[in-house]
Amino acid sequence: MVSARIIAVDGPAGSGKSTVGQQLAQRLGYLYFDTGVMYRAMTLACLQRGIAVGDQEAVEALAQRVAIDVRAPTIADGRQYDVLLDARDVTWALRSPEVEGSVSRVSMYAGVRRAMSAKQREIGLRGSVVMVGRDIGTVVLPEADLKIYLDASVEERARRRWREAEARGEAVGSYEDVLGAMRERDRIDSTREVAPLKAASDAVVVDSTSMSVEQVVDRVWRLSKGEAGAARQRGRGKR
Ligand code: DC
Repeated sequence: MVSARIIAVDGPAGSGKSTVGQQLAQRLGYLYFDTGVMYRAMTLACLQRGIAVGDQEAVEALAQRVAIDVRAPTIADGRQYDVLLDARDVTWALRSPEVEGSVSRVSMYAGVRRAMSAKQREIGLRGSVVMVGRDIGTVVLPEADLKIYLDASVEERARRRWREAEARGEAVGSYEDVLGAMRERDRIDSTREVAPLKAASDAVVVDSTSMSVEQVVDRVWRLSKGEAGAARQRGRGKR
């Protein structure tokens, strides 16, 4: 049986992409790469340097010179990776409400997406990777062996985010606040001109609204072992 070497997991905020992606990567012994952290690091860079996120030209210029690196974790504090911004560890700062509130805006810009996608593609093409994001199957790695589009209702996604934040002791406001912010992020992510959030035509859509994490991981794992491998072999045979 041939396993999928490059797996793309796309979907909206709170759909469970990160949890599922991490567990799937662990089960397969693959690298887990959460591409959202690159857009978050870019947003933090703007905030730290006082660059207005509405200033497209300045933000795109910054995307050219900022050094963002994602590497295996060096601190055991629950993190899955270290994120370095100009060689400084910013892993947890990426989850702040300030970054959360501006990241959709920053990730709208074509110049930012070009710079981030090129780096992501380079890492993805090495293979044995689970890449999680919004446009992996559609733009970054359209040749991925398996494309999953993970979805869930906006209410359920907001509930998950709110519970996670509460558990970490973060001040994110009420459930209604989180729901409102999530609706707004969905709107921006799916209506932007460049690489909007949508399922690739050959993606397998998995609705996780009433599924447990284990059920989703199991479903995706089976797809990575079976159907995707078979699809790849069929593709090879045609060439
Ligand atoms: O998955 P996340 O919540 O960490 O993503 C943060 C933001 O980054 C999200 O609003 C959309 C953007 N993003 C993107 O545009 N493309 C990706 N491949 C990953 C994230």
